[in-house]
Amino acid sequence: LLGLDGQPLVGSAATDLPASIRGFLEHIAQFEGGPGRTEFFERQGRQGLRLTALPLKPAACGDALAVLIQDLSPTNRIKADIRQLDRLASVGTLAAEMAHEVRNAMVAVRTLVDLLIEKNPEADLSATARREIERIDTIVGQVLNYSRNSPPVFKQASVHTVIEQSLTMMKPRFKGRNITVVSRLEAAPDTVHGDEHHLNQAILNLLLNASDAVNGEGTVSVETDLITGPGDGSVPSASKPQVRIRVQDSGAGIPSESLPHLFEPFFTTKQDGNGLGLAITRRIVHEHRGHISAESPPGRGATFQILLPAA
Ligand SMILES: Nc1ncnc2c1ncn2[C@@H]1O[C@H](COP(=O)(O)OP(=O)(O)OP(=O)(O)O)[C@@H](O)[C@H]1O
Ligand SMILES: [Mg+2]
Repeated sequence: LLGLDGQPLVGSAATDLPASIRGFLEHIAQFEGGPGRTEFFERQGRQGLRLTALPLKPAACGDALAVLIQDLSPTNRIKADIRQLDRLASVGTLAAEMAHEVRNAMVAVRTLVDLLIEKNPEADLSATARREIERIDTIVGQVLNYSRNSPPVFKQASVHTVIEQSLTMMKPRFKGRNITVVSRLEAAPDTVHGDEHHLNQAILNLLLNASDAVNGEGTVSVETDLITGPGDGSVPSASKPQVRIRVQDSGAGIPSESLPHLFEPFFTTKQDGNGLGLAITRRIVHEHRGHISAESPPGRGATFQILLPAA
């Protein structure tokens, strides 16, 4: 703590201490029997040590001080973390405000572009312009969705209805990519206390990722069941029954170095990805007091598992 590398401290004199600390101790030592004092000392330019010194009554061997030295660096780390969180929160707020402004501006741009394309349907870039506007709209919508905590409306919700709706929405995409869909919906009952729109979005994000992962022909499977006991060790034990949803694909899987980052906002390995799908999904699962995890055993694609407390 004092930067006295390996020096044998026992028996050494106070004069061996770094000058700033020595000064403090000498100052305290003048007030024999007086109150103790606390001082903070910098270490490597940062506040790092708290010294509390208490003069003792003169002992037979001369002046004596009791000194308590505390390392403050963990506190400093927490402070730095909080500052970082603060910054992230304001970046998030800014991003949401910007997304909002961009979306408003896009209404006018979109109307004008639609008009222009109607007049010149053969124009070279018309298809590209339309597609890119769609893309901006999607990105802005996702950022808004992530940051704006549109409060969920909870009621009795059927997980199977949500899954079937999501599968219907995904049908053209699966078909276009030659992906076989297997669904085994066996949770009984399948009701949770939840917001069907939000849950639909969560499942859609998983299905979209699965369809991206299956390159060429392949399979995406969706399974549900009801877990009532302590489970098989693959799920956190819970006293209440839980509806388990598993979305599995036969794609290339997830590299182990990506696994810890999947649910972070803006983590993506796709050229045109935003990295928001799973962050949104996790937030939705958490607002339902659920749990989400991912696994990817080598050569066996990826599996995402959601657990929701059964209602
Ligand atoms: N089923 C999967 N198989 C393999 N990798 C996956 C799978 N699902 C997610 N990933 C990885 O996790 C990353 C993050 O996924 P996420 O859905 O959050 O973002 P994204 O799909 O890249 O972009 P978007 O915001 O459009 O969803 C992906 O880029 C991909 O690397
Ligand atoms: Mg995605």
